[in-house]
Amino acid sequence: MQLTPLTPADHDATASLLHRSLVHWYETRLRQGARFGDRPEPFRIFPEVYEALDPGHAVAVRDEATGLPVGVCFIHPRETHVSVGIVATDPDSSGRGTARMMMEHAASIARERNQPLRLVSSALNLDSFSLYTKLGFVPHTLYQDILFNVPVEGLAGTPPARVAHVRAAQTQDAIRMANLEMELQEIRREQDMHFFLKNEVGSWKCLVLENENTGELDGFMVYSVHPSFRMTGPGVARDESAAAALLWAALDAQRGDATVLLAPCLAGGLVRTLYRWGGRNVELHTAQILGPVPQTKGLAFPTFLPESA
Ligand SMILES: CC(C)(COP(=O)(O)OP(=O)(O)OC[C@H]1O[C@@H](n2cnc3c(N)ncnc32)[C@H](O)[C@@H]1OP(=O)(O)O)[C@@H](O)C(=O)NCCC(=O)NCCS
Repeated sequence: MQLTPLTPADHDATASLLHRSLVHWYETRLRQGARFGDRPEPFRIFPEVYEALDPGHAVAVRDEATGLPVGVCFIHPRETHVSVGIVATDPDSSGRGTARMMMEHAASIARERNQPLRLVSSALNLDSFSLYTKLGFVPHTLYQDILFNVPVEGLAGTPPARVAHVRAAQTQDAIRMANLEMELQEIRREQDMHFFLKNEVGSWKCLVLENENTGELDGFMVYSVHPSFRMTGPGVARDESAAAALLWAALDAQRGDATVLLAPCLAGGLVRTLYRWGGRNVELHTAQILGPVPQTKGLAFPTFLPESA
């Protein structure tokens, strides 16, 4: 087995592999294959976004005869760490060390840069959970995936007090957003913030909350409204009141649509508020790290694309 870079010529084959492996794994283990739909095309957004963000960093293991990818892994080096996005192996090639080889490659990149390697892993998927912990990753933060089908008439409940101070982010906010994430979560990825605000690949909206007294940022929330990928996050907030204001604003702007967000389980008050607004818990994810466990402040709302732990 050899690792090769994924190229734009692989986008269709990659979308097909992602769809096939997710449907197969979730259907055979959990009878939940249907949640990934019946078409591979929406999964093109994964290689498209990563190619735009980090050209040449995604890797593949290929079938020797056809040259088509049988394993893919999206690697994302940033200022403070290296992240791994979705990892997938074709069901016909599973159990042969393909995913392990791709992850060891990601770990070697992080080692060379003397940085931690980070990812978000489903607690329902014990194969991937174990793949990572066997390699030395440690799960450190638990998130619950909360699904909203936002009613056209708006969310149930009263808007939080601070919603009035949420505004759309502007180009010059990118550095402030990156600095706030560094301050609260010990990770910095300014390139991603510029990517969201430029909004050329995918379809992103960005909100910020400025402190009413000091004018400093108390949080930001990005959400994807691309039809292939509806997710609220990534975002960070100094406290639950800031998070509630940002989430209300993001959800209210998505009336008539479905979106999923990952809320930190430790933020118990916020989680109960999200239930009151009509959210349903659909899965659990853990942030895992190969390296020192971060000493975080505030709240983080990670996403799967681009992965943002
Ligand atoms: C999860 C997935 C990527 C694994 O791919 P794979 O190529 O079959 O995995 P590998 O053959 O490299 O094996 C991974 C390692 O995890 C170990 N492992 C898997 N399940 C395990 C379990 N439940 N307990 C302990 N170890 C386990 C394997 O034994 C292997 O370790 P080893 O190399 O020391 O023997 C693949 O099943 C997949 O694509 N699933 C669907 C997509 C997905 O869910 N991706 C992850 C979420 S982003």
